[in-house]
Amino acid sequence: MSDAIRINLATTRKPKPKDQDLTFGTVFTDHMFLSDFQEEKGWYDPRVEPYGPLVLDPASAVLHYAQAVFDGLKAFRGRDGKIRLFRPQKHVERLNNSARRMCIPPLDPELALRSLTTLVDVDRDWVPSMVGTSLYIRPTIVATEPFLGVRPAKQYVYYVILSPVGAYYPEGMNPVKILTEEHHVRAVEGGVGGAKTGANYAASLYAAEEAKHKGYTQVLWLDGRHRRYIDEVGTMNIMVRMGDEVITPPLAGSILAGVTRDSVITLLRDWGYAVVERQLAIDEVMAAADQGTLREMWGTGTAAVISPVGELAFKDRRVAISGGRIGELTQKLYDTIVGIQYGTAPDPHGWTVEV
Ligand SMILES: Cc1ncc(COP(=O)(O)O)c(C=O)c1O
Repeated sequence: MSDAIRINLATTRKPKPKDQDLTFGTVFTDHMFLSDFQEEKGWYDPRVEPYGPLVLDPASAVLHYAQAVFDGLKAFRGRDGKIRLFRPQKHVERLNNSARRMCIPPLDPELALRSLTTLVDVDRDWVPSMVGTSLYIRPTIVATEPFLGVRPAKQYVYYVILSPVGAYYPEGMNPVKILTEEHHVRAVEGGVGGAKTGANYAASLYAAEEAKHKGYTQVLWLDGRHRRYIDEVGTMNIMVRMGDEVITPPLAGSILAGVTRDSVITLLRDWGYAVVERQLAIDEVMAAADQGTLREMWGTGTAAVISPVGELAFKDRRVAISGGRIGELTQKLYDTIVGIQYGTAPDPHGWTVEV
């Protein structure tokens, strides 16, 4: 990609929703970032354009064989009025890792970072300010080559869109009920579960709908081979505080390398907790519940930051965790990360990038 980002500003601006009316992913800002790829040219023409539809040939490879990747991160308006992105370099790194797995040519990381900061800067008035609200950033790459053969495409578009989003917990953090899924699997080791690619989300819908009908918020996914080891919860990484340890599944290919996961592990180790990345059987979790050593369980992800698990169902058993309330470490992790994001707590690891 050539380095200069061309900026073509919108001549009309959309009305902005009120902070208190924001939900998730329904409203988009005035501009988008775009860059194209062709085999002969590499990535070229990085630009900011007015937000609008993409023109895709109906034969575009992405529409048939799902060759696509995305990522998701947020910009926050702090109490001090400053706008901060949370760990954008780590998200760019993950986008490129996902791209490599899906045979998509990676982006220049420096320019990809600038695509995020430049676009957020152009649409900075869209970053909401009410506590808990943020500007969600969705970088995406899709295969645009019109070709029906099954092989990596030779043309792509990289684009970034922005969406102001509401507080995940408008009434405070809320423990969720999760159902351990025994039949359907989201991903298997050796597959694409470690990549942020649309196919994984399509694969997750059926079981998630079933769980919702049964009154659960999320599915706890088990590994695809043995249906025994816990993988992820909904679209979050999972952590279990048992005895004196916090245990979380290893990054072995079937789960996404969550940026929040990495942040939480770092904080816990800073605070002197023992964090173990290992396979954790659902039977072991249920046994810990029986023995009274299952202390806390939470999901980690950009959307909710930390999501406490209040109830876990497996086969015909349901166990309450932390008495169905928010555990002490769960709360401390949430408060610390949110503090860093909004600039009200120190950022010792330099995780935020100001725009
Ligand atoms: C499948 C899946 N796992 C885990 C995560 C959590 O990752 P992060 O903390 O980077 O948002 C996400 C959300 O991005 C996800 O979609």
